[in-house]
Amino acid sequence: MKLQQLTKSIFFVLFSLLLINCANEEKTVPTASATNDKVESKVNEILAKMTLEEKIGQTNLRGTSSRVKGQLPEELKTAVRNGEIGAFLNVMNLEYVEELQRIAVEESPNGIPLIFARDVIHGFKTIFPIPLGLAASFDAETAKKSSEIAAYESSSAGIRWTFAPMLDIARDSRWGRIAESPGEDPYLASILGKAYVEGFQGNDLSNPTSIAACAKHFIGYGAAIGGRDYNTVNMSEPLLRNIYLPPFQAAVNAGAATVMTSFNEVNGIPVTGNEFLLKDVLRGELGFNGFVVSDWDSTIEMTAHGFARDEKHAAELSATAGLDMEMTSKSYENNLKDLIAEGKVSEAQLDDFVRNILRIKLQLNLFENPYIPKDHTGNLYAEAHLAEAKKAAIKSTVLLKNKNVLPLTNTTKVAVIGPLANKPHEQLGTWSFDGEREHTVTPIDAFKKANINYQFVEGLTHSRDKTTKGFSKAISTAKNSDVILFFGGEEAILSGEAHSRSNIDLPGAQIQLLKQLAKTGKPIVLVIMAGRPITITNIIDDVDAVVMAWHPGTMGGEAIHEIIYGISQPEGRLPVSWPKNAGQLPYFYNHKNTGRPAIPDEYVHMDSIAIGAWQSSLGNDSHYLDIGYTPHFPFGYGLSYTDFKYDNITISKETINFNEELTITASVTNTGKKDGKELVQLYVQDLVGSITRPIRELKGFEHVSLKSGETKEVSFKISSEDLKFVNSKMINAAEEGKFNVWIGPNAASGLQSSFYLKK
Ligand code: BGC
Repeated sequence: MKLQQLTKSIFFVLFSLLLINCANEEKTVPTASATNDKVESKVNEILAKMTLEEKIGQTNLRGTSSRVKGQLPEELKTAVRNGEIGAFLNVMNLEYVEELQRIAVEESPNGIPLIFARDVIHGFKTIFPIPLGLAASFDAETAKKSSEIAAYESSSAGIRWTFAPMLDIARDSRWGRIAESPGEDPYLASILGKAYVEGFQGNDLSNPTSIAACAKHFIGYGAAIGGRDYNTVNMSEPLLRNIYLPPFQAAVNAGAATVMTSFNEVNGIPVTGNEFLLKDVLRGELGFNGFVVSDWDSTIEMTAHGFARDEKHAAELSATAGLDMEMTSKSYENNLKDLIAEGKVSEAQLDDFVRNILRIKLQLNLFENPYIPKDHTGNLYAEAHLAEAKKAAIKSTVLLKNKNVLPLTNTTKVAVIGPLANKPHEQLGTWSFDGEREHTVTPIDAFKKANINYQFVEGLTHSRDKTTKGFSKAISTAKNSDVILFFGGEEAILSGEAHSRSNIDLPGAQIQLLKQLAKTGKPIVLVIMAGRPITITNIIDDVDAVVMAWHPGTMGGEAIHEIIYGISQPEGRLPVSWPKNAGQLPYFYNHKNTGRPAIPDEYVHMDSIAIGAWQSSLGNDSHYLDIGYTPHFPFGYGLSYTDFKYDNITISKETINFNEELTITASVTNTGKKDGKELVQLYVQDLVGSITRPIRELKGFEHVSLKSGETKEVSFKISSEDLKFVNSKMINAAEEGKFNVWIGPNAASGLQSSFYLKK
């Protein structure tokens, strides 16, 4: 405890020094504009009229089940009338929304409006690809559009607050929630985080079609040991700051109205009761000035963690840590009054919580405009929304292998096989409560519409189906076709919250069926729909092409049809390293070198070790004896229907000082016969640091369209700003020395150059 306090104080001194040093640094510091002043005085005016009970009421986010039918419970109406509830989640009945809001505004003591919240994660009715899929687009515009449409549609149901974006860096594909994440890279996640917030919140939160964003889960949730959900998180502070914090900083800078604490502990202290993380880091350092909400019951779960003795203690710890609002559990409601009377929590602290909440309610203009505008229909499933969802699904699709089989032509006779070719619900993925299967276009729907020459036999009824009774029909259909199109992967329920897997192979009898189909000698295209990378080393040699479609959402079928038939080009790139097997996890490209760096593909395989061999470490460094250390496909990887060649990397200066920048350029040529789009990526390695540095870090990327035969020069600028990192003394600064730099198609290749940063 003492050590932590000491670290805290050291951090504060250093951080203050840093702030002085970096006075001209780009960081959003809340400015006291005239509007802000008006909001603040209104906040204080309301606060002055509130009783203690009403203040506590504002911190209460009450959950209801969206499936509840029938009468609005009397007890809820009374609670709202008494000012005991500040916000609701999952009220999905429009009449209830209107009625509860009416009671709050007209009958509660100070007429404070409610906020209605929902997990609108990758679409409301029009479902976009899962966030991990959207991340594969490497495209801020796509992310922004998806959240803009989600906001527009969901606000028509009274929702003015979503629990998104999820910005947990995920380095372990076993973790079910990797599906909701922006992937493993902090640079990409930061770009996406900003875009999502801008899309949800629009230019002005007061617009009735804008909804408040919630950057979640703060923090470190993706580092759960073993990829097992909710599991313990242990990490050094520099790791936390360099890898896990940047997307939250980006979301805060973009104006995220709220932040959600994560379920996990970090280094022994659950985040919901972690004063250092919530007050010092989130508010002090990141400059967050919205309100912080717990995750579902994460306050009272601190008892199970072994951090709080009981509910009352949990409330005390959360309040002291600076948690403004509690989701579903009632530790504040039941205990804050007593805790204040006992002097364990100050009323001033509670006042701060209420101020933070009221400020967002005012920014949402709920006092002036508490109801859904009559003419706001949300244009659910509008043509334009569907078109964007389709575009996003196309941009998210990653081509992993193609042995001259794709794209297919319209004359190809296709055997469509597999459990996910016609499963509208499954292709929507996790967190898609409101997307309806009737509106979902499956690959089969799209093939029918396009008059494709196909025959469809599932072979397996669902992704976990272990029976082989459908095999023979599938095989005979395959024999009568030119190509097998196999739609495999995981159902939606196999990823997402509390759905981690220890083995991430294709489940059920999919491998068995694919092996049998391979015996027909027909080319096989494996289309994977899944919430995570699926390990396919056991099948890759049996198939001719692999297309990763993630859970592609409402328009997934049309997107896949366009990719398979070459109407659209595959453009997606992997936002996570694709492992060879789950034993390799966690895996991430931006790892450290170790003292015995692994050399790709140079290791002694266990089958080459003599029987009875003497113990020796010779010939092996940081490898596994059975699979080496490289992933199956690296971060940033993805093929196209054409080929690209990188040439002539040049660097404008070999040495820069801390105020200079240099330009790195390479030429990229489309050497294939088709036009295409390449994602040109920039990576940097800081060779020596006061703490060891990753072997590569993504620092830039650009989508480049190239006609067949065309060459373009692609340039990136680098300055000391891009080279900063937080060291063991918690100083965020670039350090002098040599840097390697690559321009290339993924994290494992590219043209290399180097430069020096000197004073
Ligand atoms: C999840 C959150 C979600 C919340 C409300 C929790 O179980 O961890 O991500 O926003 O439920 O549904």
